[in-house]
Amino acid sequence: MDDSKVFVVTSGKGGVGKTTVTANVGACLALLGYNVCLIDADIGLKNLDLVLGLENRVVYTIIDVVRGNKDPLEAVVKHKLLKNLNLLASSQIANKDMVSEQDMINLVNELSKHYHYIIIDCPAGIERGFKNSIAPAQQAIIVTTPELTAISDADRVIGMLENQGFSEQRVSLIVNRLKPRMVQRDKMVSPDEIKNALAVELLGVVPDSEEIIVSTNEGNPLVLDEKNRLSVPFKNIAQRILGNPIPISEDISGSSEDGFLGFIKKLLGRR
Ligand SMILES: Nc1ncnc2c1ncn2[C@@H]1O[C@H](COP(=O)(O)OP(=O)(O)O)[C@@H](O)[C@H]1O
Ligand SMILES: [Mg+2]
Repeated sequence: MDDSKVFVVTSGKGGVGKTTVTANVGACLALLGYNVCLIDADIGLKNLDLVLGLENRVVYTIIDVVRGNKDPLEAVVKHKLLKNLNLLASSQIANKDMVSEQDMINLVNELSKHYHYIIIDCPAGIERGFKNSIAPAQQAIIVTTPELTAISDADRVIGMLENQGFSEQRVSLIVNRLKPRMVQRDKMVSPDEIKNALAVELLGVVPDSEEIIVSTNEGNPLVLDEKNRLSVPFKNIAQRILGNPIPISEDISGSSEDGFLGFIKKLLGRR
């Protein structure tokens, strides 16, 4: 497709929510009717298939494509409930050195003929897997939690993206696992402070919630449950990707208890 958009979801620190964001934002775009392909670039580990509940459906992986045994489209599996949400899975028996930047560019070029949105779930770290994942991407989404170690690693990744030619407009930030009560008590840095420290645009704020862990463990992206209030931040992120400027304060308004709402709006309103 001529207007196909390619995103990479990256971080510095591991375990901050890249796979969760990839699965849920991808599902939101698919729910809006777009053809979406998620790519698990975490070669050797893999877990996007588990989060999507597709582990038993995967027959071919990115390695089969890179080796030329399968066309990218033949290796992709469809989500059980959401047919326009697709996954190109990673291989647990392979290692990152089996894939090159050019391999990634070639396979994304091929897939972009068929999908509106391609979202690459990047492995942690700044090694080979990171470079492979960012090579075909037009836009980078950096995920961080509101902790100093994660923010500092995110900063490093922003620097590396700049070195690789990503301009400011091509980089945005998602703050995941925010605890509004902790921000209010000054026990946690606010999304605004993080945004200012890293000097990139905020794409969204996702609250910390046990429900997200449960949905991960069940292999069911929570946004598929339309009524779940936690789907709001992911839906808002999808809308912002589409170019609709939903205020960031809308992301956590539903999850903060009465009385916190005004505070949070004030906190996040100064974008
Ligand atoms: N907003 C959140 N609230 C609570 N737990 C979360 C949240 N986002 C992610 N998690 C949990 O954190 C763990 C790591 O998330 P994951 O998406 O796998 O991170 P990464 O891909 O960056 O390694 C998972 O157990 C996931 O369920
Ligand atoms: Mg992951």
